[in-house]
Amino acid sequence: MHWFALPILALSARESVDNSDEQTMLQVMDRTVRKGMGHMSPDMGPDMSMGKGKSMGKSMGKSMGKRMGKRPVRGMGPVGMGGLGNNVVGSCVTGADWEALYDLGTPMSNEQEAPTVQQFGSTLGELDVTALTADIRRVMFNNRLFWPADFGGVSDGVFSGEGGSDGENGNYGPLFVRLAWHCAGTYRMTDGKGGCTGGRQRFEPERSWEDNTNLDKARALLAPIKIKYGDGLSWGDLIIAAGTTALREMGTPVRQFCLGRVDEPDGTNSFPLGIGGQPASSTPPCEVQGMCEAPLGAGTVGLIYVNPEGPVVEAGGSPVPDPALAAANIRDVFGRMGQDDRETVALIGGGHSIGKSHGACDIPHAGGLSPFEAYEQDQMFAWDGECGQGSGLRGKGDFVATSGIEGAWTTRPTYWDNEFFTYLVEREWELFTGPGGKYQWRIVNADAAEEDLMRMTTDIALITDDSYRAIVEEFARDQKAFDEAFDDAWFKLTHRGGMWSPDSKCDVGSVPSWVTAVGNNRMLDSDIY
Ligand code: HEM
Repeated sequence: MHWFALPILALSARESVDNSDEQTMLQVMDRTVRKGMGHMSPDMGPDMSMGKGKSMGKSMGKSMGKRMGKRPVRGMGPVGMGGLGNNVVGSCVTGADWEALYDLGTPMSNEQEAPTVQQFGSTLGELDVTALTADIRRVMFNNRLFWPADFGGVSDGVFSGEGGSDGENGNYGPLFVRLAWHCAGTYRMTDGKGGCTGGRQRFEPERSWEDNTNLDKARALLAPIKIKYGDGLSWGDLIIAAGTTALREMGTPVRQFCLGRVDEPDGTNSFPLGIGGQPASSTPPCEVQGMCEAPLGAGTVGLIYVNPEGPVVEAGGSPVPDPALAAANIRDVFGRMGQDDRETVALIGGGHSIGKSHGACDIPHAGGLSPFEAYEQDQMFAWDGECGQGSGLRGKGDFVATSGIEGAWTTRPTYWDNEFFTYLVEREWELFTGPGGKYQWRIVNADAAEEDLMRMTTDIALITDDSYRAIVEEFARDQKAFDEAFDDAWFKLTHRGGMWSPDSKCDVGSVPSWVTAVGNNRMLDSDIY
């Protein structure tokens, strides 16, 4: 099914764009940019190369310095930001605007000034959470031609089609949910490291992990909101607020989210999670890529959880598309994350109730270069996909290659329901190699409406393992049980790890004490590791 071909059927009130505070956004943006330049100078040489004493890895600092010295610097001055004008959320974002926004979410300098805990706390208190979620909705439903949305807006489950031009109707909800999951899913119970707090996905090594392909676009889409709210909104909070708001907009009953994640100025604290996809250089080393052991949180360095095609079981080997092996791998890895079986099934099935996987073609480097590689080679943007033809189409829309697996899980991928589970148990699934050259599963003898639906080996694992299957069957017959389990698991997933401000607050109710506790979150009843 080509989601781009869906006709425009309806526009909901929620999708109409209110531009009333765009001028304010522009002014704040200009101020922020100038402030950023001012703050940057002490650590930058006259040629803008990196100064001494930065906390990033040695080789990284060196290579970044080299790039910063010889490259135009994006997003750091009136020229870079000038085109943003009064269109930060509305239409007509120019190429220069997109470059500047891109650089805020994936800074070429590989570092970004972060406010102190005190500065953050004092401005967080003034942050209007209702206004923030309204801005997230506006960004979520505004198509941007630089990275066209997979889906049109949706109202009560009715697609309204792809936006024809910039600033029109689109739906980035699933992308924002994946962004939040990948940010939070680095958390590991083994030693409490990881999590979205710190907002380190902007930096190396996380931004160049294979799993985080194309999340640079999601951060760029959200950058205007970071600019508007400034120090009072951390990147960690913005990413989780975006994922949670997106879920709610698509119908997921999420009761609460909290703000107060303290941003970090670089990615240093992510290095122990695994470095740049190189198992041999991770800390601690991973002997067999695909079977990395605790304390590493993931089975595969460069993937935050498990291999979707099935585990790799020998050094240098290929994925084995065996759902039983995948189930064991999931239990091990999600256990290291602190999730029990019920939470694991709710999270995987909930996440895959929406959105689609991207594997448009099977060519080498279909997804493009990581930020680390792209910046090294003087490219302006990373993950510049190579499927499809023509400058306007290549690597975008129907031609996106992210994981290499292609297709949506459900017939209504921007609508929250339990079809992921009902189809798992009511249909028969068979293994095949998809258009992206990866193992994936399809419905046997599918009718036209279902022939493009897909499952990953890790999804099929949920019906081959007895314990997981019992939970899948329960969620297939009881939507409310699924809703409640997902809500609890999502809150836990997105609120663990890292440093929280003493001034943390929630959109509804108070902050649970474990969230802000020092060394948070290893004292929950449900913690199983
Ligand atoms: C075993 C665990 C999981 C595996 C192996 C897995 C794997 C994947 C893969 C390979 C993709 C496709 C990426 C692409 O090509 O665009 C994907 C997409 C997605 N995943 Fe997962 N995932 C897992 C768990 C989760 C969880 C726990 C959530 C959230 C609660 C989640 C939310 C999503 C969403 C929303 C998308 C669609 C993104 C879009 O439409 O752009 N996933 N996942």
